[in-house]
Amino acid sequence: MKGTHRFGIAAAIVLGLVFVAGAIYAGTTVPDVIKMETPAYEKRTKGIVEFSHKKHFTEYGATCGDCHHDENGQPLTDLKEGDDVQSCITCHKETVLDKADRKMPKEEKIAKYHNEAIHANCIGCHKEHNKENKLGRKDPKAAPTSCTQCHPKKKK
Ligand code: HEC
Ligand code: HEC
Ligand code: HEC
Ligand code: HEC
Repeated sequence: MKGTHRFGIAAAIVLGLVFVAGAIYAGTTVPDVIKMETPAYEKRTKGIVEFSHKKHFTEYGATCGDCHHDENGQPLTDLKEGDDVQSCITCHKETVLDKADRKMPKEEKIAKYHNEAIHANCIGCHKEHNKENKLGRKDPKAAPTSCTQCHPKKKK
């Protein structure tokens, strides 16, 4: 009996370590508001975006598949809370646009660069939403499309 118990504890510790290691690039739990601070960025030029993850699918009408997709870019339409979800940086691996890639076609930039993918996703939907609802850029009800509406001014 005692032996099995001890084995159980050891197994739990190992599983715990595996879980922590896995959480760097994927995760099943997510706060209602995500501080978008992807560790891969060596230096950061903009203030940290506070992303109201939960409100997006409970109040703003977005579905999981609008933002999360598989390795072929196909929307994960049947994703549920608690599922293991990969971070965007797992596939959109590079951070800041390399000078050599400046003339790369837009789709290739998005596939390669994290902030290009993020901006296309977030700002793309926000622009569509504002257009459909005839909300001007400065309308207080408009979804944010300008830099400082998402990135707060950096503290000096
Ligand atoms: C409007 C876009 C959007 C919608 C809608 C959305 N998510 Fe997310 N979700 C994100 C972003 C962005 C992240 C942060 C990913 C990162 O850090 O790379 C995230 C993170 C997560 C994480 C944590 C992953 C980790 O790396 O720890 C989980 C789990 C998750 N989402 C599940 C869901 C589920 C389930 C739904 C639908 C009920 C959903 N999301 C809807 C954009 C969205
Ligand atoms: C499992 C790998 C993987 C993950 C994780 C991933 N992507 Fe993608 N993404 C892709 C692939 C593959 C494509 C398609 C590229 C192509 O068609 O050239 C794509 C395309 C896109 C596009 C352009 C097409 C479209 O749907 O508008 C955007 C924007 C995008 N991803 C944003 C994101 C965001 C934001 C996240 C995190 C919430 C994310 N991706 C997570 C693999 C991934
Ligand atoms: C599928 C559509 C869609 C996508 C994708 C999306 N949003 Fe939004 N977002 C909305 C809508 C709609 C609103 C406006 C809701 C309202 O005020 O009525 C909004 C509002 C916001 C707001 C202001 C209100 C608040 O809750 O803070 C922020 C900030 C925001 N989005 C950040 C993001 C970020 C960051 C991403 C990408 C990681 C993102 N959004 C992706 C639809 C989207
Ligand atoms: C809808 C919200 C939104 C808007 C609007 C937006 N961004 Fe971002 N931006 C993000 C998110 C989310 C990230 C990802 C941060 C992370 O995951 O670490 C990001 C990342 C970045 C990064 C890389 C990280 C850093 O701090 O160096 C830069 C640079 C950047 N944005 C510049 C801009 C500029 C310039 C504009 C205006 C033209 C802009 N962004 C508009 C949400 C937004």
